[in-house]
Amino acid sequence: PEVITVQELAGRMAEKASDLVKALFNMGMPITVNEAIDQDTAELLVTEFGHIMKRVSDSDIDIVHDEETEKDDPATLKPRPPVVAVMGHVDHGKTSLLDALRGENVTAGEAGGITQHIGAYQVKTKKGGVITFLDTPGHEAFTQMRQRGASVTDIVILVVAADDGLMPQTIEAIKHCREANVPMIVAINKIDKEGANPQKVRERLLEHEIIVEAMGGEVQDVEISALKKTNLDQLIEKLALQAELMELSANPDRPAEAVVVEAQLDKGRGAVATVLIKRGTLQRGDTFVVGAESGKVRAVIDDHGKQLKKATPGMPVEVLGLSGVPSAGDVLTVVENETRAREVASYRKEQQNKARTTQAPVSMENLFSSVA
Ligand code: GTP
Ligand code: MG
Repeated sequence: PEVITVQELAGRMAEKASDLVKALFNMGMPITVNEAIDQDTAELLVTEFGHIMKRVSDSDIDIVHDEETEKDDPATLKPRPPVVAVMGHVDHGKTSLLDALRGENVTAGEAGGITQHIGAYQVKTKKGGVITFLDTPGHEAFTQMRQRGASVTDIVILVVAADDGLMPQTIEAIKHCREANVPMIVAINKIDKEGANPQKVRERLLEHEIIVEAMGGEVQDVEISALKKTNLDQLIEKLALQAELMELSANPDRPAEAVVVEAQLDKGRGAVATVLIKRGTLQRGDTFVVGAESGKVRAVIDDHGKQLKKATPGMPVEVLGLSGVPSAGDVLTVVENETRAREVASYRKEQQNKARTTQAPVSMENLFSSVA
């Protein structure tokens, strides 16, 4: 039964009625502002506009606005591990550093154990507690996720090779950090190499308004060798200090919200996504929407290939049970039931397809330009 007019719903949602009509039309429902819709349709609309709907009774609904749901009550917040990404120019030692940090700091029992590549991993450090490292090509992951409005990185380690100095991608990384307002720690790498000139790196950074500690500024810097594993504990200490200043926290006691770090189709396991839990707890059996896909969590797997019952904020895990492969940066949201999940996903897929067919239409001009 119809419970609310489009106009009234728009009012309660604080959205434009014409935008709702447009969305309804795109969903294949040509409905005018004065017409009434049922609870299911209303909920679909409400969800799509980023709000949450509550069914007060069979004939009444209540809208919870995103500002209210967006922020967790401060009393529910618990400390969570920092999420760290490594950025820097080609060949400056990003992968070497991630490998070294992982090898150096994994607890004795795990050292030498088989570790899977899942695009992100956690390290238990002696001095800095648990730290989550994103192990994806830094720039790509960072920009892709930011374009989609999903920020996952708390701290960036900017790797600069001391023999090569500041290079185009170093400068690009600085720009990204600044735009995203993410603090960075400068790791001046390859100090074991002949011709290494860390001081020159610091000076060149000044030109980009990065004043490191050694130059009297506030950006932490550390000279390292990823190859020889020099000063890695210092780097960890600085990370821990930075993280402490940020007082990172999240509410673990709510349905999970996570961001896709990477995803692919696996021969044996189907669509697999590596996600980073932003808040809440993800559990086996949870129903979810992720971008234009949906699913039910069949397995939660940690960075050691171990099956978990649940994952908490700051943890990177693999999720199995997806209807298809989502994109990096897509947000995974746990929802109440499978019908809802499928509806939202299929609506989004339609929108994507529409966007695709209307994007870049082939004009006569560019059809023939190659011939001319
Ligand atoms: P891309 O992923 O291609 O952008 O490179 P990367 O930044 O991940 O660099 P990678 O870790 O692959 O290192 C590039 C080369 O530098 C490799 O040959 C490493 O062995 C070498 N290298 C990395 N760190 C050090 C270091 O501290 N000292 C020396 N001497 N060589 C290093
Ligand atoms: Mg690399």
